[in-house]
Amino acid sequence: MDDPRALGLPLQAVNGIPDARHYWEESFRGIDAETYDFTKSKPAASLAEFCISHLHEGALILDLGCGGGRNAQFLAMQGYRVYEIDVAAAAARFCHTRFARCELSGTFAQGSFTHIPFPNASFAAVICIAALDHGTLGEAKASVAEMRRVLSPGGVILLTFDPPDTDEDIIHEAQVLSDGTLRFVRGNQKGMLFRRYNDQEITDLVGTNHIISFRHTTKGTRVVVAQ
Ligand SMILES: C[S@@+](CC[C@H](N)C(=O)[O-])C[C@H]1O[C@@H](n2cnc3c(N)ncnc32)[C@H](O)[C@@H]1O
Repeated sequence: MDDPRALGLPLQAVNGIPDARHYWEESFRGIDAETYDFTKSKPAASLAEFCISHLHEGALILDLGCGGGRNAQFLAMQGYRVYEIDVAAAAARFCHTRFARCELSGTFAQGSFTHIPFPNASFAAVICIAALDHGTLGEAKASVAEMRRVLSPGGVILLTFDPPDTDEDIIHEAQVLSDGTLRFVRGNQKGMLFRRYNDQEITDLVGTNHIISFRHTTKGTRVVVAQ
């Protein structure tokens, strides 16, 4: 894949990036990847089983909303070829440094749930962990279609959603948008979006016929594997 947005060339702004981007930019700017202890951020518990059950050796995987790269690092260490995108350019830069320090190779770019900067049918899998609930419902719907656009035939998607009661203690800091998404307008998470999905909404978002598995972890995280 020869994409100009791969790291090494300038990261480009992408249409459709929401204002919440600034919240995430600032979050990652505040962390020094040169000194950060990466052992502190373990991969999502659902990832190892997903790899065993659904991925072939060396598969090409997109980590959408990669954040600090804890999941991508795990995948790269298992020998998968990993592409990471995040709405925050600072997150992509953080991951670049993480991979360099860990002597791993990967490709990093800025992009969004609704604008994935790669061609159709590029990846064997897309993972989007603890991320899709940080957009509006409209964005999430468009994103699922966008994930399917970049999946190769037979490819799989791994999605996780936080428990619906997350952020209960700081609900008073948020505005409720018309689709139920919380937009934090005060406090440490000012600018962040978070939508609390119930199970039926997740099923509707992905489409019943597309779901391969849907389970709850002991902490209440919903883990969905879909086509
Ligand atoms: C809670 S973090 C999870 C990060 C990572 N997936 C993990 O499991 O550690 C949510 C991530 O979603 C990213 N994000 C938020 N809105 C996004 C959007 N519209 N498009 C792409 N990424 C987005 C944020 O920048 C952040 O890195």
